[in-house]
Amino acid sequence: MAELQEVQITEEKPLLPGQTPEVAKEAELADRILLDQGQTHSVETPYGSITFTVYGTPKPKRPAILTYHDVGLNYKSCFQPLFQFADMQEIIQNFVRVHVDAPGMEEGAPVFPLGYQYPSLDQLADMIPCILQYLNFSTIIGVGVGAGAYVLSRYALTHPDTVEGLVLINIDPNAKGWMDWAAHKLTGLTSSIPEMILGHLFSQEELSGNSELIQKYRNIITHAPNLENIELYWNSYNNRRDLNFERGSDITLKCPVMLVVGDQAPHEDAVVECNSKLDPTQTSFLKMADSGGQPQLTQPGKLTEAFKYFLQGMGYMASSCMTRLSRSRTASLTSAASLDGNRSRSRTLSQSSESGPLPSGPPGHTMEVSC
Ligand code: BEZ
Repeated sequence: MAELQEVQITEEKPLLPGQTPEVAKEAELADRILLDQGQTHSVETPYGSITFTVYGTPKPKRPAILTYHDVGLNYKSCFQPLFQFADMQEIIQNFVRVHVDAPGMEEGAPVFPLGYQYPSLDQLADMIPCILQYLNFSTIIGVGVGAGAYVLSRYALTHPDTVEGLVLINIDPNAKGWMDWAAHKLTGLTSSIPEMILGHLFSQEELSGNSELIQKYRNIITHAPNLENIELYWNSYNNRRDLNFERGSDITLKCPVMLVVGDQAPHEDAVVECNSKLDPTQTSFLKMADSGGQPQLTQPGKLTEAFKYFLQGMGYMASSCMTRLSRSRTASLTSAASLDGNRSRSRTLSQSSESGPLPSGPPGHTMEVSC
């Protein structure tokens, strides 16, 4: 299990003979990250302390992959199946991964005292610079799910120069309207908070199917010792502001974006609408069949493959480095591409297990991945 380490940013170390303060600082940062094979840190921010776990060794001039999980989960329950997927190793070995736990969601987190003002999603986004400053990363590739996807999008809107790419799973960029609130209140009369959160994470079909995965996550959430904290993150999510994305306006994501949603997922319509508001030359839309509400849990192989092409499109994974992974694609994976009617500049892609890898290049296409 990862250890919790609280390290003061202001901590001073004596200089070695002949060492300048700059060199000492760089050595200290390098040591800090080199030692970080799954070590957990906390830093203070204007909105309280934030915990994150760092894996991997830094490579010069590479962004960190920074993840942000959804409500009811933490970094492990949200991302472990994806980041520990065998084919993913070839990709992530080239990057440091910084997995953020929203406040009070880290393993062993104490319950916040009554009356504690939980940060809004915008304030959660404003905590990210403190993490990057601590680790000395100037840019990131963000991977977020649900509320975490919103937080990373808000961060990208306010700090566009520091975000090289975004993978947004199940993003709903809209504030709740009065109809949503009415439905939410009605559901609240008959459902517990854990059931409402499960309804946000998974489709009704999945919940009634009660697979092992659903049983596992129902158990995790229902018996969470920090359920009060989870409810606070849930409230912040439900009180989110509109991100106000507008195609062609200043309020849009400037970096390459891969939008991901499962077909039949609770947020399918929201992600489709989000796709219509982003720059089509920068955005890829991946609608995954048979993946339910949490594609990163149920289809890590397909998501790994899509992530690989996304990174290749950004110029990070030379095809020559990817031969083993490209060959290892399973025969069950096919991607039938479709043109999205809203998107005049979309590219048509097709992929089958025999046809070799998808062409890499700038994003701007729709893929529907099915088994
Ligand atoms: C990673 O290698 O990034 C990772 C490992 C375990 C859990 C989550 C992520």
